[in-house]
Amino acid sequence: MASEKLQQKLNEQITHELGAELQYLAMSFWFERENLNGMANWFRTQAAEEHDHAMKIVSLLNEWDHSIALVSPPNPTIDFDSVESVFDAALIHEQRVTAQITEIFSMAREESAWHVEVAFQWFITEQVEEEVHARDNLAKIRMVGTNPAALLEFDRHLSA
Ligand SMILES: [Fe+2]
Ligand SMILES: [Fe+2]
Repeated sequence: MASEKLQQKLNEQITHELGAELQYLAMSFWFERENLNGMANWFRTQAAEEHDHAMKIVSLLNEWDHSIALVSPPNPTIDFDSVESVFDAALIHEQRVTAQITEIFSMAREESAWHVEVAFQWFITEQVEEEVHARDNLAKIRMVGTNPAALLEFDRHLSA
C-alpha cells in the first residue's frame, strides 16, 4: 500500500502529465501555424508520450485499488515569442517534472511502497531521456540562430 500522502502525490502527477500533454499539444499547434511541421510533429509525439505517462500512473493506482481524483490541469500557454522560447520552455518543463518524479520515488522508498518505487524507476529513466532530448534541441536551435536554411534543416530533422 501507498500512504494517503503518496497516493495524493501520484494523483497530482497524473494532473501534471495531462498538463504536459496539453502544453505540448499547444506547442505543436503553434509550430503548425509557423509552418514548421517537423517541430509540430515532434511536440505532437511528445504530447502522446505524456498521455501515456498519465495512463501508466492511472494503471498503477488501479492495480492497488487506490482512488483516482482526476483533477484538471491548468490551461497551457498557447502563445510564444520565438522558436527558441518554445524549446526553452520545454526544457524547463521537463526539469520540473524530473523533480516531481524523484520526489515521488524518494517518498516511495521512505515508506517501502516498493510497487511505486519500481514503477518510478521507469519514470526516472524516461525523464533522463526526455531531458537529454530537450537540452539537445535547445542547444541546436541556439546554433540555428536566425539562419532560415538551418531552421528548415532542423525542422526536417525533427519530422523523422
Ligand atoms: Fe511525462
Ligand atoms: Fe516529458
